[in-house]
Amino acid sequence: MASTTNSPSTLLTLPNFSIQTSTFLPKTSQRSIFQKKKPFNFNSKRVVSCKASNGKQNDADHTSFLNRFDRRDILLGLGGSLYGATSLVRDPLALAVVPIEPDLSSCGESTVDTGKTCMNVPCCPPKLKDSKIIDFEPPLGCKIRYRPAAHLVDRDYLYKFESAMERMKALPVDDPRNFMQQANIHCAYCNGAYSQVGFPDQKLEVHYSWLFFPFHRMYLYFFERILGKLIGDPDFAMPFWNWDSPCGMTMPQIYLDPYSPLYDENRNLEHQPDVLVNLNDGKSVVKPKKKKEKDSFDELTKREQIKSNLYVMYQQMVRSAKTASCFHGAAYLGGCVSETDIGCTPEPRGGTIENGAHIAVHKFVGAKNPPYNEDMGNFYSAGRDPLFYAHHGNVDRMWNIWKTLPGKKRHDFNENVWLNSSFLFYDENANMVRVKVRDCLDSKTLGYDYQSVDIPWLRSRPTPRRSRPGVGR
Ligand code: C2O
Repeated sequence: MASTTNSPSTLLTLPNFSIQTSTFLPKTSQRSIFQKKKPFNFNSKRVVSCKASNGKQNDADHTSFLNRFDRRDILLGLGGSLYGATSLVRDPLALAVVPIEPDLSSCGESTVDTGKTCMNVPCCPPKLKDSKIIDFEPPLGCKIRYRPAAHLVDRDYLYKFESAMERMKALPVDDPRNFMQQANIHCAYCNGAYSQVGFPDQKLEVHYSWLFFPFHRMYLYFFERILGKLIGDPDFAMPFWNWDSPCGMTMPQIYLDPYSPLYDENRNLEHQPDVLVNLNDGKSVVKPKKKKEKDSFDELTKREQIKSNLYVMYQQMVRSAKTASCFHGAAYLGGCVSETDIGCTPEPRGGTIENGAHIAVHKFVGAKNPPYNEDMGNFYSAGRDPLFYAHHGNVDRMWNIWKTLPGKKRHDFNENVWLNSSFLFYDENANMVRVKVRDCLDSKTLGYDYQSVDIPWLRSRPTPRRSRPGVGR
């Protein structure tokens, strides 16, 4: 296996501060009310290798930061404040010219760290003999394949989809298109297997920043192309989990048959249908002031849950997502340790949907087993559940929908540093392909779109209710 060489011995630490910088980014409006602390198991920016963490994690002191910046020679500006000192900030323009790129040769173990327990897992892609990297070209042709809503597919479609998944799972284990290898892509990009090109000390991580939507789009794109190839149907389109609509708010039935290749036993069995997903992640929309009220909220009727979910969607797609920065999340630049790195991002955070409904659905599906809540409840294992790809189909669909909403600022970033950031994937022919963010802005250019279904939250514009008479006991 081509995996665990070059395991990162460098100690990377994430200090807990952000810094005000003048920024080249569009100014964000207020922080979303949905902005949360990272959920317990989704702390994948903490890419400190377990081995290195023994007692050394408090290395995040002022000195080590200074040293690191000096070494990389990108500390240009002074000003701002760090631990109360007004002396250190990187020039955001200096960072702005360095897009993020994974260094394939640096691939080492991924680290899963809950804060209490930690483990290293091998997730690197297999090395193939001819490992030339090709630059991605969008497909020729104008035919659009439409991804169907998972709860609406018919038997013929299901048969096709299942055979494709079966074949993907049956590929040799060291074939990069094998299902487990595909799952490992997520683990590698989300749990710090790669260093950044040009910054051997800095890990690459695709969550909680503006890399979130582009990375996951292309990840699914190649997954889908591989499925299509395996059944000889290049027009095959994967289903999406329509969790933003009342008819799709339970786990889709096609993923629940234990004999199906779409099944995964590592899920929360208490969340089988008819249990509706709570897009607000277990929290009430109107924050209950009294504990008693909270108890009754837990017993929301279905109707209330649906209403609440639609409200969440409206918030995260419309009200709180008026700019690219709100929707996509903060900038994440080459040389940054993470979104919490000093000067790297003006506001360390993921976008509204990423932090909100996206995480909520992960947690809804993942098993309750501590400490890692596999599969969907942890980034390192999420790709092992076929439902992951349907979930992210809908996340990706939100990107498309968001761009169609009215509002002058509701368009993607146009900063080159974002557009030129890139990822590496094996394509359906097992060729290594480099994809830039600029290649994936338009799903139609990539040859796919989504079945048009109702978008009920769009017109509902709910207002939170102060009281909910009749709810509860
Ligand atoms: Cu990369 Cu939903 O996670």
